[in-house]
Amino acid sequence: MNRFWKTLFGAALFVPSLAAANAINVYKTATCGCCAEWVRHMDQAGFEMEVHEVERSGLLERKRALRVQQRLSSCHTATVSGYVVEGHVPAVDVRRLLAERPPIAGIAVPGMPAGSPGMEYGQQSEPYNVVAFDEAGGLQVFARH
Ligand code: CU
Ligand code: CU
Repeated sequence: MNRFWKTLFGAALFVPSLAAANAINVYKTATCGCCAEWVRHMDQAGFEMEVHEVERSGLLERKRALRVQQRLSSCHTATVSGYVVEGHVPAVDVRRLLAERPPIAGIAVPGMPAGSPGMEYGQQSEPYNVVAFDEAGGLQVFARH
């Protein structure tokens, strides 16, 4: 698809009122390039992004407050509509999360897998899972990519 059709197609799928109610608050450090790329990915997918730049200590504090387990952690931490979104989660999964509203605390892409949104470097990509986590610390696969 060329850029024009992509834009048109994107606009047709995009429901503005939904996006406004579902602003994503993302916490990242100022120097993280892949975080900025993820923000761009979400922005292009139609989400309203509110970016908070914090020190590394502030980011870790934010993860602790939201009870993001260390094994799930990545470079940035976001919240949307009561859910935590940790790391390079594709927009399509966030959209599904908001549509289905499962009884979980959030979803995460642990680490920074190559080929996930914001982590595209050339043709490099590896399979990765989006993991759902609940208040009790239970994990489940939410999506496979
Ligand atoms: Cu990253
Ligand atoms: Cu990041």
